[in-house]
Amino acid sequence: MGETYKLTGIHHVHYYVGNVKQAAYYYQKAWGFTAHAYQGLETGERRHTSIVLAQGKIRLLLTSPLGPDGPVNEFLNRHGDGVRDVAFGTDDARMAFESAVARGAEAIAEPEENSDEHGRVVLATIRAYDNVRHTFVQDDGYSGRFLPGFVEYPGPDLSSGSIGLEIVDHVVHNMSNGKMEPQVQFYQDVLGMKRFWTVDDKDVATEYSSLRSIVVANNNEVVKMPVNEPAEGLKKSQIQEFIDFNIDAGVQHIAMLTGDIIATISRLRENGIDFLEVPDTYYEDLTERVGVLDEDIETLRKLRILVDRDEDGYLLQLFTQPIQGRPTFFFEVIQRKGSRSFGKGNFRALFEAIELEQAARGNL
Ligand code: FE2
Repeated sequence: MGETYKLTGIHHVHYYVGNVKQAAYYYQKAWGFTAHAYQGLETGERRHTSIVLAQGKIRLLLTSPLGPDGPVNEFLNRHGDGVRDVAFGTDDARMAFESAVARGAEAIAEPEENSDEHGRVVLATIRAYDNVRHTFVQDDGYSGRFLPGFVEYPGPDLSSGSIGLEIVDHVVHNMSNGKMEPQVQFYQDVLGMKRFWTVDDKDVATEYSSLRSIVVANNNEVVKMPVNEPAEGLKKSQIQEFIDFNIDAGVQHIAMLTGDIIATISRLRENGIDFLEVPDTYYEDLTERVGVLDEDIETLRKLRILVDRDEDGYLLQLFTQPIQGRPTFFFEVIQRKGSRSFGKGNFRALFEAIELEQAARGNL
């Protein structure tokens, strides 16, 4: 079925946090984001405080509640800090919403037009699964900072300066066992997406844990979303650990694209970000696995950057530790040199490393 609307990319990721001010400090100081826009008591919003952080075309919307009740608290109480909404830019939010609902999506918020002196925006929201949502944002007629209702951030500029992050490359969803296929079907039926790339448990089985993964993408591939589920292993899959601590399905990680991963990871390490431990052995046979690279292997080894190659080229990537107390959400930094895939060859090397850390948490 042909789509009559276009997705233009990931407009923003809406992340609920316990303390929006401290979270904004972390993203500014450690990740080089700038505080871009604000909504709260001073703007007449009495239910919650929101800060938008910006770098390149990435927009992270952080929200904390101002009182004890309501959906933000319910989400935080159940899941802890986490992604509530992966919002898509579109040229027609009404059409996107109506065709999604007609094909079986649950309506969360009907299309609504909001405007201020900078123009108008149409927003509409559907449920993705469990407590995760997709909002369609049509802002082609809007020249304001973010969305109507937001103003310039009133606090001091604490940004340590851009670390080179450009766009959201992909967003990964963790489903419980048996829910991956239905969720992929949902994205195909409801959003007209296509199956883009697949990993099964033969690719990603370590001695203990494994997973299955199917990537969905929209037609022009500006939105790419791997959907995972746990697979049987001798011990608990890392996907199951996520589900256990997130309680429901949820967003596992967001990958942010850089044009220079060596510079980006160097800055993040200087700023104290903890990454997945990559074993030294990973680098011993790296050249045999991925061939000749533009980058100096010794530098990659020092920074613990991962590399994978496919028929189109190669990619470099690295994953942070979970960024909150619960072992749930984390970030990926990725640089693409031709490759359009997701680091299949790293899954095994990576999971062996993840399992060492899972064991240290007593969850293996
Ligand atoms: Fe990823």
